[in-house]
Amino acid sequence: MKVRILNGPNLALLGRRETDIYGRRSLDEIMASVRADVEALGIDVECFQSDEEGVLVGEIGRSADRFDALVINPAAYTHTSIALRDAIKACGLPCVEVHLSNIHARESFRRESVTAPVCVGQIAGFGADGYRLALEALSRMAQRNEEAVS
Ligand code: DQA
Repeated sequence: MKVRILNGPNLALLGRRETDIYGRRSLDEIMASVRADVEALGIDVECFQSDEEGVLVGEIGRSADRFDALVINPAAYTHTSIALRDAIKACGLPCVEVHLSNIHARESFRRESVTAPVCVGQIAGFGADGYRLALEALSRMAQRNEEAVS
């Protein structure tokens, strides 16, 4: 199974940014450990980060033919981006939304996600483990779907 992990704005600053909320590990360290954790499940992970909405929209569109599923942490765009929402919906791939922090326990503007309704689910509040949990969920979902058609 090939899964693309997309990370949005300011996540390249992980390890230096609000470490009390987001922890001390860099995005590269987190992505490397997630990749290693899911290798045994046969999940091949490719990671991409951009601070720019249009770039993320383009990458979601280009993922449709090359990947089986998406994991996305849209960061601040979670709360604002209809363009990302439309791109996730249009690409047709199952997508899990991940947040390091529990967005429901923070400022009220973070409680709404415009992207979550077009995702198969949302995982928030488990730090970097959220990415691994999302990949496990997608892998189990794919297995269930295969069993249903065979
Ligand atoms: C975040 C939560 C967002 O509200 C915030 O803008 C981020 C990170 C998270 O992973 O907890 O940049 O997506």
